[in-house]
Amino acid sequence: MELKGLILSGGAGTRLRPITHTSAKQLVPVANKPILFYGIESLKNAGVQEIGIIVGDTEEEIREAVGDGSAWGVNVSYIHQEAPLGLAHAVLTAADFLGDSAFVMYLGDNLIKEGIAGFVEEFRQKECDAMILLAHVSEPERFGVARLEGNRVVELVEKPKQPQSDLALVGAYMFKPCIMEAARAIKPSWRSELEITDAIQHLIDNGFKVEAHIIAGWWKDTGHLEDLLEANRIVLEDIMPSCQGSVDEASKLDGRVIIEEGAEIIRSAIRGPAIIGKDSKIIDSYIGPFTSIYYGVTVVGSELEHSIVMENSSIENIAGRIEDSLIGKNVEISKSSVRPKSFHFVLGDNSTVGLF
Ligand code: DAU
Repeated sequence: MELKGLILSGGAGTRLRPITHTSAKQLVPVANKPILFYGIESLKNAGVQEIGIIVGDTEEEIREAVGDGSAWGVNVSYIHQEAPLGLAHAVLTAADFLGDSAFVMYLGDNLIKEGIAGFVEEFRQKECDAMILLAHVSEPERFGVARLEGNRVVELVEKPKQPQSDLALVGAYMFKPCIMEAARAIKPSWRSELEITDAIQHLIDNGFKVEAHIIAGWWKDTGHLEDLLEANRIVLEDIMPSCQGSVDEASKLDGRVIIEEGAEIIRSAIRGPAIIGKDSKIIDSYIGPFTSIYYGVTVVGSELEHSIVMENSSIENIAGRIEDSLIGKNVEISKSSVRPKSFHFVLGDNSTVGLF
């Protein structure tokens, strides 16, 4: 069966503000790789060659990062969604791209460790109209929730106040073209979105066969800061140490550390798992476990742990240890030598700063 891929990378990203005021949440790096790239790799590994990416306001940035897909050996085309009106709306927007193909829909902010090759294969072999991926979670009210009878899906509710099970919908779905009709038939939800959960429920109510596959490995919807840091931690746990940059004699690397090309470590301690990106400089500093420093970053006289620092930022001479933080692009944090001694901030809307 020829399968197309549809990756959803539009949307607003309200929960990761202020990072997402200006940038796509799907491009935030986890272990120095944009989240979206993990999704493209998963589709490629599942044998999907034709991928359409739904984009919104951040279209330009996503096009620039992904290009035509040749870096992965796939064909990528872009589909502009006028506004984030829901996952089922995104499917309708992609009608021309999808034609009458069966397809896998993948949410661009999801990370699924085991990939989706097994899920896609099961769908290829089964005679069903749609297949959903589920995981047991501790806070089902944050997700779409499914109720099963055996392997058959009987009910789906989007972010229920009183969840009927602990089975959350993971962001990968398999569909036959009948989903199009269902997406046309439903009405917007309480959050004014055309929900894919409602479209799938519509399939169930009309006698179509919807099956479920429960995943064994970990999965993260990286929409919240804690989840993003956890995803970073889990991916870093599996890295293989390597050094393509330079580490001076006075520095010490402990555990699994990746030093990318052109990075310089001077009089510093790096305790893995951690990754230091291309052309970044770590001077007189400590970088602790579960930290990802992206490219072009400078850290001088500071300590960081369990954090993600995005490209071209600089952190200089900060007295306390920075922990559990997400620092955006081109951010400067430094100790001022100007009197009177004071804190000096230029922070975007919805920024959070924790001082002691
Ligand atoms: O992560 C799993 C959850 O994803 C499921 O459990 C829910 O059932 C499902 O509705 C979805 O919930 P979220 O509220 O987390 O979806 P979010 O708005 O974060 O959108 C998911 C991805 O789709 C994200 O990359 C943005 C993109 N998107 C979203 C909307 C609403 C679009 O491309 N277009 C849209 O209209």
